[in-house]
Amino acid sequence: MKFAVLASGNGSNFEVLARSVRSGSIPAELALLLSDKKNAYVRQRARNLQIPEQWLNPQDFPDRRAYDQALKEILTREGIDFVALAGYMRILSAEFVRSYPNKIMNIHPALLPSFPGTDSLYRAYRHGCKVTGVTVHFVDEQVDHGPIILQQPLLITPGMTYEELETRVHEIEHQLYPHAVRLYAAGKLLVKKNHVEIAE
Ligand code: GRF
Repeated sequence: MKFAVLASGNGSNFEVLARSVRSGSIPAELALLLSDKKNAYVRQRARNLQIPEQWLNPQDFPDRRAYDQALKEILTREGIDFVALAGYMRILSAEFVRSYPNKIMNIHPALLPSFPGTDSLYRAYRHGCKVTGVTVHFVDEQVDHGPIILQQPLLITPGMTYEELETRVHEIEHQLYPHAVRLYAAGKLLVKKNHVEIAE
């Protein structure tokens, strides 16, 4: 399996995936990092890890469809058949998603279907939720919506600060995402009627 990561920001999840590939715990090749943000730190991480990276500037394209078409051309040219989103802040076009059915994965800092969209963790914290967590799912045409692969809950205990919660969520993400990609690369994820079965 040859895959790409799409990311817009800090890139800690990208780095964990890259290191899992490098250590052999994900049986795949991480061929490319693509970013829509020129100054995203994730690009520096890719360069440090000597993983090819590319910035695709949204302003160079008339609309989302054209941008995603260019993305798809790059992925096709590189022979990439699986995409992991890791803090990618652009919504993908329906055409793009349809080109990769159950071949795009996303990690989301909430227990979907609760709190889709941006600032999920902060919204859950502000809401006074007693439990939150992390979801890894396949991407469909709706935002933060497709078949759920793995979820891990996390209790928000009395007195926990938002910063503490964020740290815990990242720790969980850094375990859960490599695990999900590992299962995919090993051919152990089977999607049946929007439910994901895990063959162990
Ligand atoms: C993570 O919280 C992930 O769940 C969300 O975006 C954040 C990315 O963090 N989709 P990082 O850039 O990987 O550090």
